[in-house]
Formats: sequence, C-alpha cells, structure tokens
Amino acid sequence: MRAITLSAEDDFDGWRDAARALAQAHVPPPEVVWRVGEGGGDLFAVDASPPPAATGPQLRVPKAFVELAQAVILHSDPQRFALLYTLLTTDSHRVEDRADPLVRRLELMAKAVRRDIHKMRAFVRFRELVDDTGTRFVAWFEPEHHIVRANARFFVERFASMRWSILTPEVSLHWDGTTLSEGPAATREDAPADDPVEAVWKTYYASIFNPARLKTGAMLKEMPRKYWKNMPETALVKALVAGARARETAMVETARGAVGGNVEGAWEALRDEASACTRCPLYKPATQTVFGEGPLDAPMMLVGEQPGDQEDLAGRAFVGPAGQMLDRALDEAGIDRARVYVTNAVKHFKFEPRGKRRIHAKPDAGEITACRWWYEQELALVRPKLVVALGATAARQITGKAATIAKLRGRKLALPEGGTGWVTVHPSYLLRLPDADAAAQAYLDFVADLRGAWALL
Ligand code: URA
Repeated sequence: MRAITLSAEDDFDGWRDAARALAQAHVPPPEVVWRVGEGGGDLFAVDASPPPAATGPQLRVPKAFVELAQAVILHSDPQRFALLYTLLTTDSHRVEDRADPLVRRLELMAKAVRRDIHKMRAFVRFRELVDDTGTRFVAWFEPEHHIVRANARFFVERFASMRWSILTPEVSLHWDGTTLSEGPAATREDAPADDPVEAVWKTYYASIFNPARLKTGAMLKEMPRKYWKNMPETALVKALVAGARARETAMVETARGAVGGNVEGAWEALRDEASACTRCPLYKPATQTVFGEGPLDAPMMLVGEQPGDQEDLAGRAFVGPAGQMLDRALDEAGIDRARVYVTNAVKHFKFEPRGKRRIHAKPDAGEITACRWWYEQELALVRPKLVVALGATAARQITGKAATIAKLRGRKLALPEGGTGWVTVHPSYLLRLPDADAAAQAYLDFVADLRGAWALL
C-alpha cells in the first residue's frame, strides 16, 4: 500500500506528478491511498514501501484526459483521485468513449464542478467595508466543490480595480488591486452583513418582482436556498411577497426606472444568473446558456425558438445558418440588426444525439414555460416597443398561449406584459422548404413581415 499526500483539495499538479510516477512504476490502483493534508508533495511519506522510480518512457495521455482530470480534481468526492488514477492506468484513451461507465461518472463530476464555478460567478455578492486602509468589498460564498482558487482569475479580471476579499469555508482570496493572496478558511460572521452597494441589487429585484406571477417555489428553484442567505436581494423576498397584492399593478411599468439607471449592470447580472440556470433539464446536455443580446434600449426585440448547434457552441443567438438567413432578410427589410435586441424563447439547445451529430429537437410546453422567467426579465429591462416572434415556439412564449402561426401572422397583438407583439415564420422554416419556388416566395413573405413590423415603429 502506498499513501500519497496532496498539498490541497485542488492540488492537480501534486496528483499529476504522483500519478505519473506511480503509473510508470506499474503500481495498481488498489495499492494507492490518496489523502489531502499537511506536508503536501511529500510523496509516499507515510508508508514503508519506497517510492517507485519514475523511469521508463514518458507517459502520454490525450489532451481530453488532462482537461477532464483538471476539472474532476476540484470535485468534493474523496474518490476522485483514485478514479482518475484508475482511468489513467487502464487506458487514458478510454476518455474518448462516452459510453464507458467510469468516463461517464467522471464527466458528470466535471460537469458538476463547471456548474459550481458558474454559480460562484453568478451568486457572489460583495458588501462594502470601509476601514483605516480604505474601501474593501467582501463576499461570503459556500461552494459545493473545491473551485475557489480555480475561479480566482475570473474575479481578478472582473473586479480588477476594486480591493476585494472572497471568504469561503475552505480558503479566502484577497485582491489589493495588484496582487492576489490567499488566507485561511473563514466563517460567515467574518463578512459584513449589509451595505449601500446592495441597494442596486435590491432595487433591481424589487423592480423585476412581478407579484401577479408570484410563485415562491419557482423562485426557490432558480436560486437554490443554499445561496439565498448570502444574497441581499433575497432579504427582500419576504417583504415583497407580503406586499404583493397591493403592488399588483404598475409594477412592470416602473421596472426600468427602478434599477436606478443601471440597466446595463442589471442585464449583466441577469445574464450571469442565466448562465447557471437549471430551471429545466435542458441545461444538462447543452454546452451553455445562450442569452439574448443587443442594445438595451432597442425598439424591437426579436425572439427565436432556441439556440441551434452553432449557437450552443458559440454562446450567441442566431449565428448559424438560420442566423445568416435572418441577417439577409433583415438587411433586405431595411432593418439594422445592431439596433435590435435578439433573444430566444428557450435559452438552451435541445437536441438528440445521432452519432457525432446533434439533431435539433423542439422544446416542449414545460421547457418553454420554465424559460419564460428569463424572457420576462429581458422584457422588463429592454422594454421594446415591439416584440417579434419567429415561429410557433416564440409565438407561444410572447403571447403566453399556444396558437398557429397562420392565425397570428402579420397583425398587431396585445402582449400580456403590455406592448405590441408581431408573429412571423422562423427563418429555418425557409431553409427546410424543398421546392425552390415555394422557398423564394416564403422568403419574400418573411421579408415583407419584417418590413411590416419595422413600419409599426
Ligand atoms: N434558431 C433559433 O431560433 N435561434 C437561434 O439562436 C438559432 C437558431
């Protein structure tokens, strides 16, 4: 038996060096005990057996294995070191085989880690602290996995000019504007409880909180209870729920003003939260949330169905073949895409794997409803004069009801949140028409619909 002591829970380099030496010495996985603790890097210190000599040819592993291992090491499962070592020693090329149970297990672990990284980015809230040395922003966060150090670069880049500290039960990070340093584990009490910076957040949440659609269960699901206690805006929820009925009217109207003019900041916060969305199961196989984009004072909002294969990879709406068709038609209708806010009814790519391909699958009613939350927030912030739905899924999202395109197409619609809606076909419908003449006519009709919509403005 050999005991390997790593210097920290996220000590990837330590694991890699030890695993390489062990594998080269042909030490089988059951003979290795992995531990984390003091005296890291002190390989084989505990057991009597001498360290294996790292001789023989260099161990070569696929890049995918290294990437998987770098993520899995951050997982909280104590088995992770041994599982990775098993994969390394049996054949690291198995990593390409998605059906392999060990690979699947490790991939799920890597995915949980990535999600936790996203959650930290979305849910960390700084509170302002003023002391003799000036102003510092302090946040308390409890991650599920060992992701804090791996996330440090993100916070340094995002908040480069602030002095900040992120306190967690495992480690604390401190940035003084030039240097990142690490401190010991902290407790919630070490972080300040309230401050004026939170006012922006609280106002934002008050503004987007629509009492007519109050569903506490849904709110809890979106923002896991675990994070509620750290987020200033959630302190408002009780009060908001209590006063809900009285505030039932005029709420949406005041939304934009209530974010104190910081629409951009509110939108960024929203997009970050959406990046960690788990409101429906579509987030699981998708690469990422594809949020809307465009000017936040756009007079027109275009709503598509859901991101396609290319959008899922790029993280941007309408950049694939349907996007090219849309761009062409917008151009022909005299509409500058840069003046339009473009989003989707559903913000994750739904697909069925077929070999190496991912075939588009239509979102169902539950998925459309689950995603309405994000559409409503985008609507409250952008407040476009006109919302144009491309296809039946988008039409359902903007009207809140199922209906056929034929019934809704090309006429002004009163939307449930206020404002005007307009429905036309989806550009990918044009791409699917097998008959060239029918496709050409459908394209002209589509351009005419867009032109008609723009004319309403
Ligand atoms: N189809 C859509 O509905 N939206 C996109 O972003 C891309 C394709």
